Amino acid sequence: MERVIPHDLTIHTARCLLRRPVLEDAPAIFSATRFAGFNDGMQWEPPTTIEELDEPFREQMLAWDEGSVFAFTIADLATNGLLGRVGIRKTNRPNVWNLGFWTHPQQQGKGYMTESVRAIFTFGFEELGATQIEASYALWNKSSRRVLEKVGMKFIAYIPHAFQKQGRWVEANKMSISRREWSISVASGDRQ
Ligand SMILES: CC(C)(COP(=O)(O)OP(=O)(O)OC[C@H]1O[C@@H](n2cnc3c(N)ncnc32)[C@H](O)[C@@H]1OP(=O)(O)O)[C@@H](O)C(=O)NCCC(=O)NCCS
Repeated sequence: MERVIPHDLTIHTARCLLRRPVLEDAPAIFSATRFAGFNDGMQWEPPTTIEELDEPFREQMLAWDEGSVFAFTIADLATNGLLGRVGIRKTNRPNVWNLGFWTHPQQQGKGYMTESVRAIFTFGFEELGATQIEASYALWNKSSRRVLEKVGMKFIAYIPHAFQKQGRWVEANKMSISRREWSISVASGDRQ
């Protein structure tokens, strides 16, 4: 059965507030995409104008209501400024969800994504009833790999043709964590 997740759901971490996106996030998202290489590890392309973000925003709102994707803006708990995005998407396999994320380039390397992904694991396993959460990173994307390793995900597959960028295939590794592995790591206080 689909879980109904209220629009006003917020998830608190030590430093971040995860909330449903709002249209007012667009300027900060657009500014992130102005940094060279920001979109290289993700399937979406940088928009040419801020208005181009309207359509994906509407799709995200719809997807939330359909229960197929829950995208969260990561905001600074103290200032409410946008730090990044983290989303969890249903796959076509029962109770298997897929993770995607980005941090604004001016906020990278401060541990925000690691903190946010841990919170999304709790949401995914406890609220969505996920039994497995997966994520893929382009082989060259060391920071993404590091985040996934820090949160306890393990390699499960090499994907030679994960997605295309500038007409070339990007190789990726798929990582995974099961609900059991996650609960063991939470119980043991594993925060490496
Ligand atoms: C991947 C990304 C989300 C990480 O966000 P972040 O907020 O910087 O993540 P964190 O600060 O929690 O952790 C980053 C880790 O990567 C490490 N790292 C950064 N650059 C690295 C590099 N070139 N080689 C190895 N490790 C690197 C950091 O040192 C840190 O690890 P540490 O805590 O052990 O020091 C961010 O770099 C990003 O948004 N990239 C562009 C979009 C993208 O590629 N998204 C992922 C698609 S799969």
